[in-house]
Amino acid sequence: MSNILLHEPYFCSDEIKNVSNCIKTGWVSTSGNFVKKLEDNLINYTKSKYSVALNSGTTALDLSLKAILVKPYDEIIVPTITFISPINVVLYNNCNPIFMDNDPFGNIDISKVKNFILKNTVFKNGKSINKKTKRKVSAIIIVHVFGNVVDFREIISLCKKRNIKIIEDASESLGSFLSIGGQKKHSGTIGDIGCISFNANKILTTGAGGAIITNNLNYFKKISYLSTQAKDDPVRFIHGDVGYNAKLNNISASVGVSQFKIFNRILLKKKKIHDYYLKAINSLKNFKILENPKYSVSNNWLNLLKLKNSNKRHLEKILKVFFDNKIQVRPVWHPNHLQKKMKKFERYKLNEYENYHKSTICLPSGYNLSYKNLDKVVRIVTLIDKNES
Ligand SMILES: Cc1ncc(COP(=O)(O)O)c(C=O)c1O
Repeated sequence: MSNILLHEPYFCSDEIKNVSNCIKTGWVSTSGNFVKKLEDNLINYTKSKYSVALNSGTTALDLSLKAILVKPYDEIIVPTITFISPINVVLYNNCNPIFMDNDPFGNIDISKVKNFILKNTVFKNGKSINKKTKRKVSAIIIVHVFGNVVDFREIISLCKKRNIKIIEDASESLGSFLSIGGQKKHSGTIGDIGCISFNANKILTTGAGGAIITNNLNYFKKISYLSTQAKDDPVRFIHGDVGYNAKLNNISASVGVSQFKIFNRILLKKKKIHDYYLKAINSLKNFKILENPKYSVSNNWLNLLKLKNSNKRHLEKILKVFFDNKIQVRPVWHPNHLQKKMKKFERYKLNEYENYHKSTICLPSGYNLSYKNLDKVVRIVTLIDKNES
């Protein structure tokens, strides 16, 4: 068991008050007031027009693909470096992923995406067709990993022209913004639909949970409809589509409403943790902390330790030192095009992911991290650095 955890949830006493309110009043299902309150909080914070609170971030991604009306065998551009959820939903919808490489932040490489669209697809009858497979490329899922926003400004108008919908996976980037035309826009509000996760390890949590945010009324209506069993007549039980029981329940939503009250406090502490790591580690010879991209504001969800001159064995050796000292660290996700069920799908010029994967470690970054424990993490990194020099 680790003593220093990667990312614990942080609660204040307000959550207990709200949860007991749900239980005392009997409003525990998906119909309670807190669900609407959480959706309003999201709308106010992100400045999106609409929001639907759902039972997970994965559900948000799945219903987003359904809302943009993907068809079986459509192709969806995805990053190989991400938690597997945005890839799995492509398969839930009987579509095919096209795997893309990553940039230095671990995010999808937008210049390669642009090249792929321009060189490997043709635009015919309102569709972008993959020249090789003759299938329609209907969407791209942009995942803002570790809280760092993807700079996808250069493909927004291209995707519009080519009728390729943009789904933003903002599961890890609530509180992160991209600068566009002198304006700060919240991640998830720039593409067609944004997806958020409130899982226990995220910056705000409802235990398990998620949401979509969008400025498009049709997508909002479609996701609201599908997530509540597609009821045309709720009294006589007439259903116009295959619906889902996918809304967030009131108890979980009540936790989320309390979490929003302490969001600024959480963001502030996370910035302090990031700055602390930067100052202590970036003067070392063999390591550095990944700095936030200049074009954005990051929520500093997870801090990444970058290893200079690394290989797989070296990475494993360093992970072991942390584990032996009861510090929970993680390598980044196993590249998804190498996962058992994903090997048969198209990949486009993947040559950065391997180096990124073997040279990156996620460090403990949660709100509850004490300065004493932060110091311990830094001490271990410093010790390894000394031994390697
Ligand atoms: C990038 C990313 N996408 C999607 C998800 C899925 O969210 P959930 O666990 O709420 O289904 C997660 C995390 O869990 C994630 O990190």
